[in-house]
Amino acid sequence: MEPKKFTLRIQRNEKKANGSLETKWQEFPVEGTDTTTILTLLESVKGYQDGSLTFRQSCRSAICGSCAMKIGDRTRLACKTHIGSVVDEGGVVSISPQRNQPVLKDLVVDIGPFFAKVHQIKPYLQDGPDSDTKVGASAYEQVNNVTQCIMCGSCYSDCTMSEVSSDYLGPAALAKAFRFVSDPREGRKTERLKALSEDKGMWSCVRCVQCVATCPKDVKPMEAIVKLRTRGMNKGFMDGVGQRHAMAFHEDIQKTGDLNEFTLLMRSVGIVGTLAEMGVAFHLMKKGKIPSPFPHKAQGIEELRSIYRDLEANPLDVETKAEEVVPE
Ligand code: FES
Repeated sequence: MEPKKFTLRIQRNEKKANGSLETKWQEFPVEGTDTTTILTLLESVKGYQDGSLTFRQSCRSAICGSCAMKIGDRTRLACKTHIGSVVDEGGVVSISPQRNQPVLKDLVVDIGPFFAKVHQIKPYLQDGPDSDTKVGASAYEQVNNVTQCIMCGSCYSDCTMSEVSSDYLGPAALAKAFRFVSDPREGRKTERLKALSEDKGMWSCVRCVQCVATCPKDVKPMEAIVKLRTRGMNKGFMDGVGQRHAMAFHEDIQKTGDLNEFTLLMRSVGIVGTLAEMGVAFHLMKKGKIPSPFPHKAQGIEELRSIYRDLEANPLDVETKAEEVVPE
């Protein structure tokens, strides 16, 4: 393959003496083929053009998670990303540090807050049985899927909720929590689900799917979060805005096949919460976007209800998509 010319447009970050961050963009011409990795090109910039360029890397094999950074439109592993797959028509790609984490220098972020959230969910087995426990195939599959996580922080970086709520546990910590809730050897599943049902936990996810799209290991954190929610509700942890919101959806779709958005807010956040949102409601009203108070009945509602009956008769199969029941 003939080498081509590309441009790395790199965000440079420098901490000043007063603690503020000075940010600028700098372009570096590089040469490589379409399959040259971003990490190789960053190393060539550091080796031949600017030795002060700072970034993390270690394994070069998509294993250690050190080299996660924003490349083009989302967060990726530099050692796994081929330049040809991310450049624009002019051969340029923008590279910046992970989002939602404090920047230390150039492309390096402080991963302390990210790992503090992972520690918060107690990432180890607690009070399990003393003797060996048989782990069935579907339980193993669920545990194994989330253990593929390399803690690179890509999902956390692209998470839209972490952007607006720095206290939110985030997709990586929640996927890790699911790993323990799914493990038949874990002795504190109920306590875990109770803690995860609290504010800033699993119900804060807005299901933007960014974590699924960005994960370099196909861990699908959002799917783990959805399964955690189901398990939390099955255990009776229903007292929260997220749970009430989910139940309101459930009731409407089951009853009419259509969502009654007019009453949804009230049923989710209660009277006080609704009053707090009146400003938004008036704004929507002015724009003609207030939904009708009269519920509309969808066509084919009987078919929908029979699907509901099937799902309710076998909810665990819906969750695991497997015949084998995961031990409680
Ligand atoms: S250097 Fe280890 S994941 Fe990229």
